[in-house]
Amino acid sequence: MGRTSKDKRDVYYRLAKENGWRARSAFKLLQLDKEFQLFQGVTRAVDLCAAPGSWSQVLSQKIGGQGSGHVVAVDLQAMAPLPGVVQIQGDITQLSTAKEIIQHFKGCPADLVVCDGAPDVTGLHDVDEYMQAQLLLAALNIATHVLKPGGCFVAKIFRGRDVTLLYSQLRVFFSSVLCAKPRSSRNSSIDPDFNQLDGPTRIIVPFVTCGDLSSYDSDRSYPLDLEGGSEYKYTPPTQPPISPPYQEACTLKKKGQLAKEIRPQDCPISRVDTFPQPLVTPQRHSLLAPEMEDNEMSCSP
Ligand SMILES: C[S@@+](CC[C@H](N)C(=O)[O-])C[C@H]1O[C@@H](n2cnc3c(N)ncnc32)[C@H](O)[C@@H]1O
Repeated sequence: MGRTSKDKRDVYYRLAKENGWRARSAFKLLQLDKEFQLFQGVTRAVDLCAAPGSWSQVLSQKIGGQGSGHVVAVDLQAMAPLPGVVQIQGDITQLSTAKEIIQHFKGCPADLVVCDGAPDVTGLHDVDEYMQAQLLLAALNIATHVLKPGGCFVAKIFRGRDVTLLYSQLRVFFSSVLCAKPRSSRNSSIDPDFNQLDGPTRIIVPFVTCGDLSSYDSDRSYPLDLEGGSEYKYTPPTQPPISPPYQEACTLKKKGQLAKEIRPQDCPISRVDTFPQPLVTPQRHSLLAPEMEDNEMSCSP
């Protein structure tokens, strides 16, 4: 696969590089802001699960005039520095990280808390949804300590089976909860079977799509020479991750030592039947990590 193929498949990925954003997610926050004026009056913001930092870039541009320390970015992963953004490397589900964030503003509350947290997806939907929900709840917990009354909390949510439970938990703290889908976020992750609670526990929250209908559709492929745009020229990623968790997998892949998936059709039946041990699940995490979607991984075979 050539290095331009992802530019064709994912127009927001390509536009992010061309516009100097570290990840395509920047467009999601910008489209949300267009709809909800998220940054109006905001002087202090917390960006949870921030790496590689495109939301922090947006925040620092929108409220950066306030000076250094008004945007705090937190992630498990180390992140390349950004002007005006204070970084905390830590796990948002840990009390120590939560305390560090809370102490940062020295009692001055934040106006906005955002969280784009996503676990390393396993492909097992229930597990992935559960993990993502835990990130959201950890972020909510932090938000309840740092956010000013009337402040705004924006978080990624997987609309899985238990989404209504999350909505109810959010409604405990916020008078208004709504679900928004920016045009730059892909449809692929939507579970059509969501919202299975019923009775008094069922909460319906307004659903809003944002981003101009004439803007690019994140689920479509576009030709490299975009209509009305200038001639296509490949742009490398703005800021490759500085210490990604899949680094070791990249090194193994380069050396041809990465475990390969054994598909049943590739094995003669008699051999499969005689395996004394169950087949070990191959290590696929490096091929599924969502960060790879956003940050071109530079490990060619
Ligand atoms: C989709 S990326 C965020 C992209 C980011 N908003 C941007 O615009 O560049 C999800 C991030 O969640 C982080 N993450 C996952 N679990 C975390 C945890 N428990 N604590 C802190 N960060 C976490 C990952 O390290 C990853 O960088």
